[in-house]
Amino acid sequence: MTISVTRATALKAKPDGSDIGFGTHTTDHLFLADYRADTGWINPRVEPYQGVRLDPTALALHYGCSIFEGLKMFRQPDGRLAIFRPLTNAERLNHSARLMALPDLPTDLFLDGLLALVRMDEAWTPTHAGYTLYARPVMLGIEPTLGVQRPKQCLFYILLTPTPPYYRKGQRGFRLLADRRFARGGPYSVAAAKTAGNYGKMVLPIEEARRLGFDTVLWLDGRQQRFIEEAGITNIFVVYRDCIVTPPLNGRILPGVTRDSTLTLLRERGLPVQEAETPIDALCAAIKAGDVREVFLTGTATVVAPVSSISFEGRDHVLPSQTPLAAAIYDTLTGIQAGVLPDKYGWLHHV
Ligand code: COI
Repeated sequence: MTISVTRATALKAKPDGSDIGFGTHTTDHLFLADYRADTGWINPRVEPYQGVRLDPTALALHYGCSIFEGLKMFRQPDGRLAIFRPLTNAERLNHSARLMALPDLPTDLFLDGLLALVRMDEAWTPTHAGYTLYARPVMLGIEPTLGVQRPKQCLFYILLTPTPPYYRKGQRGFRLLADRRFARGGPYSVAAAKTAGNYGKMVLPIEEARRLGFDTVLWLDGRQQRFIEEAGITNIFVVYRDCIVTPPLNGRILPGVTRDSTLTLLRERGLPVQEAETPIDALCAAIKAGDVREVFLTGTATVVAPVSSISFEGRDHVLPSQTPLAAAIYDTLTGIQAGVLPDKYGWLHHV
């Protein structure tokens, strides 16, 4: 499909770096495409960045018929940009779409649209260490109707935003609060979809955790409030003396791209890794017994970040302050992304 391009006539002032927050600045253009049930995806275009006009009855605004992705671009030593694992994100968008009764988006439309947009706005790539250009693809059901139903009209768009590191290496590790009230996904849930409501519902529990002096919530499963699932907006890994465990993709866990990359890098090092349920009681007991070497978090925005403590039922379980494995995975992953370590798995898509 040919992508039509309309260039912005007035370009925005670019931030100098120090004043960038996560998503506070957007670039000069958007990529958009429309979907109708009778035509499929049509009208792919790059346009000047502007507001999206929706009918007030649009389904996304009422029933959360809305999914998104997050992925990053990195300046390579030769000056070119590379996108990290864009096809994995394109496939995950479709995984979310199926869970939310939204249409599949052809992966080449995702990739071609992203490339067209990045080529237009790559001058927005920040130069400060750790800062990157972040893409936020979004699909909305925009059919104007109040019936709870599969949208027959949708909008897909991608915006770009220069972002600071969500977590800075060397910063104190995350202090997590686990509480039986706080679950991401229940027995029937769309917790494995990257969909708006899964994030909106986090705000109150995370606010409460912060009020109590923690950084974020360690979500427990919604059926038994027993197993750890994710932390804040990230996946979680526990490094025991004899193995490394992360919760399995049981339908309630977001299939994180950084989670998947971390599993690959751990296995490449010959480390014993399991995708297994971890009861919170057993985790706390293992920390107390000194059997847990590290706990760390993974996510696109976060990259890899250590956890310094887990609080559960009024007790703080403090983790070792040295987190060499989290640091090694962070260095390897960011080295591959920056093009200074070999990209053995073909994760970089050069622009
Ligand atoms: C990401 O890590 O890319 C995310 O989507 C997290 C975001 C909800 C802040």
